[in-house]
Amino acid sequence: MKHILSANQFNKNDLEKILKRASVMEKQCKSDKIKKLLINKIVACIFFEPSTRTRLSFETAALKLGAQVISTENAMENSSVYKGETIEDMTRMLCCYADAIVIRHPKTGITEIASKVSTKPIINAGDGANQHPTQGFLDLYTIKKEHGRLDNLTIAFGGDLLYSRTLRSLLPFLRFYKNNKFYFISPKELELPREFIKELKNDGVFFEELRSLENALPKLDVLYMTRVQKERFANNSDYEKVKNLFILKFKHLKNLKKNAIIMHPLPKINEIEKDVDNDPRAAYFRQAQNGLYVRMALLLYALGL
Ligand code: NCD
Repeated sequence: MKHILSANQFNKNDLEKILKRASVMEKQCKSDKIKKLLINKIVACIFFEPSTRTRLSFETAALKLGAQVISTENAMENSSVYKGETIEDMTRMLCCYADAIVIRHPKTGITEIASKVSTKPIINAGDGANQHPTQGFLDLYTIKKEHGRLDNLTIAFGGDLLYSRTLRSLLPFLRFYKNNKFYFISPKELELPREFIKELKNDGVFFEELRSLENALPKLDVLYMTRVQKERFANNSDYEKVKNLFILKFKHLKNLKKNAIIMHPLPKINEIEKDVDNDPRAAYFRQAQNGLYVRMALLLYALGL
């Protein structure tokens, strides 16, 4: 069994294997071949933060592979953690019932704590602003599928780069591939933490930090937009100040290459104008669909199958 806690635990070989498996899952998704791969297994999904795609795609992935699912979607109130039970004790109990445990929690490092006492694979479905490795995998899979390659790409991350855990999981993956150039586009208040900038500089990665989209757009192969993470702000007035500072508008699309793609982990709120959805370069719903195949592959990986 293998825990999936952080993008940083994987090497390039792991990535290639998991992407390949996901592509097999995509091809076999509707066939009988996969229906018994997780027969007699139980997957627990314990979510302390809201989720649509991550939880439901994990549950669908488990069901497609023949597993059964036990689930708590509002674990902050509906689990005994509400009464004060520790994550360690909760994990020990889940190990009595389930074969794999998917956890989302607002606190950084929670899944690592759980993994220390767990006899079953723990899968991090998002821990605070820290990591969201399974999203990183589905984002990588999407770029590969849409562009046919993972190197020689110009990629911009736009929006809330301070708190986006999906960026923190995708960026280390992309850095395994050669000649990728990065633009980090955000208001000052939401810029990428300096520790990441320092690391990129030390490693000689090509990158630029920008305050507006316009100049970068014509160069991009991938524009990865993010939601301003309201739930991470200490007070609402700080959120109100920045929530609408960064928006991809329909008029911007004329400056984007014909084969560029617009990605977003979703949910999107104000950061992408609705009309953008109808443009074929808007890849975010295709991206979410890919999450199913990638999470099928990741459940098999975690269970050592
Ligand atoms: C992301 C998350 O939870 O970090 N959502 C997701 O899992 N697709 C992004 C977000 O909530 O903004």
